[in-house]
Amino acid sequence: MCKIGVLVSGRGTNLQALLDAQNEGNLGGEVVLVVSNRSGAKGLERARAAGIKTEVLTRLHYPDKDEYDAKLIEVLIENNIDLVVLAGFMRILTERFILAFENKIINIHPSLLPAFKGVRAQWQAVDYGVKISGCTTHFVDRDIDAGPIIMQRAVPVASDDDGDSLAERILEHEHEILVESVRLFCENRLEIRGRKVIIKE
Ligand code: GAR
Repeated sequence: MCKIGVLVSGRGTNLQALLDAQNEGNLGGEVVLVVSNRSGAKGLERARAAGIKTEVLTRLHYPDKDEYDAKLIEVLIENNIDLVVLAGFMRILTERFILAFENKIINIHPSLLPAFKGVRAQWQAVDYGVKISGCTTHFVDRDIDAGPIIMQRAVPVASDDDGDSLAERILEHEHEILVESVRLFCENRLEIRGRKVIIKE
């Protein structure tokens, strides 16, 4: 069974979608650890409510980025993690971390990459005036929001949308493609060929 470690910084609705799928037997893997860089993250409460082990690693304890990531790697390895999911984890990981879990880190991003990388992608999309945005799951490589794309979902932008309303609509699709991407990974059905991710039957 694929052991999943989820990293969160905030409310954790994507984590919840994974936990719900797991409960329904639809995840193909098991979330065994949730790590947050914020002790007050709602995602931690969700994990605890589901009886899942949690760890808090804050910048206060590890102000140095390399030391932070070294500790994070240690915690994930100790728990035999096969897949790391970034579910609203608002820290940029070092190359050391990315190499330690090469092709084993999946991120969910709230835009159709490569458009609107970085933070507040939904607000960026509204400000830019695009008619369609959406969400993307991708493998994480050393460039930010740029690794091979696993799945995408398009979401129309209405003329009266603001960042909040668009974010809310995109979120439902995030939950679906994140669960599906994790399941495909756990079923060993994702093959990375250069920039492309092939979904095997
Ligand atoms: C989600 O919209 C996720 O796509 C986004 O943070 C939110 C977390 O929500 N991630 C990023 O913007 C990463 N650059 P959640 O805590 O409810 O899952």
